[in-house]
Amino acid sequence: MNFTVEPIDATFGVMVTDLDASTLDDDSFAQLYALWLDHALLVLPQQHLTREQQIAFAGRFGPAESGIFDISTVRPDGDLRREEIEEDASFLNMLRGNYDWHADGSYGPALAKGAVYSAQVVPKQGGETGWADMRAAHDALDDELRARVETLAARHSIQRGQARRGLVHDERNIELGPEFNPLRSLVRRHPETGRKSLMMGRHAYSVPEMTDTESRIFLDGLVEFACRPPRVYFHDWQPGDVVVWDNRSLLHCVKPWDMREPRVMWHAGISGSPESDSILSMDQVPA
Ligand SMILES: [Fe+2]
Repeated sequence: MNFTVEPIDATFGVMVTDLDASTLDDDSFAQLYALWLDHALLVLPQQHLTREQQIAFAGRFGPAESGIFDISTVRPDGDLRREEIEEDASFLNMLRGNYDWHADGSYGPALAKGAVYSAQVVPKQGGETGWADMRAAHDALDDELRARVETLAARHSIQRGQARRGLVHDERNIELGPEFNPLRSLVRRHPETGRKSLMMGRHAYSVPEMTDTESRIFLDGLVEFACRPPRVYFHDWQPGDVVVWDNRSLLHCVKPWDMREPRVMWHAGISGSPESDSILSMDQVPA
């Protein structure tokens, strides 16, 4: 290895040091990518990448979603977002939805491949990002449940995900067509490694064979089982830290923090492809 790799105390993830993510040669990047597929989460402390460097680094893992998206309690003009301002409140509610475990884009036509995520400004308390290993969770199910989930699927919706916390998804931000209610199998096979993993989280709300209440109890039970030690890792951010996660293998969430404090994170999404995704149906279910 052209850098130093240390394990994280979980079923997944490694800490990578002695490298500069902005100047990696192709050979080093190939090693890093293989490590990423294997461990699903790379933690690269103290990289202090510029926006351009982070976009370029993310672009080596796959096609970009849309450059950098600021996950921030600070508005572009530098003022803190305020609950009294409708647009700010809507954005803060979007952030609050992420307190629950999820995979990015599971409610759309293509699950994100992953993301390069960095901390710019961190709050005094809270705001840690957590990831949970859905490969290890799948493998840890008892034989009977593992066989059962293999036959099941669930609908995913951003509106339903927000509604879990009494939040309303603001449709002005994203125009949602009928493809934004996909039926996804509960077990998916990783398109590159072939490993099986569970797919659920806050956007999953309806298993076709079950009533809404049965679905909720069943899906919540799966998340509760899956997202616990040794299958979870929470990163306590320092400004300049960078992580790269495989969104096809992990769920993630953020711990609550005081949103009157500045917290500025840069999210560079890596696009997934519908072809490699395990969507069973995108027919819209009547609300
Ligand atoms: Fe997310």
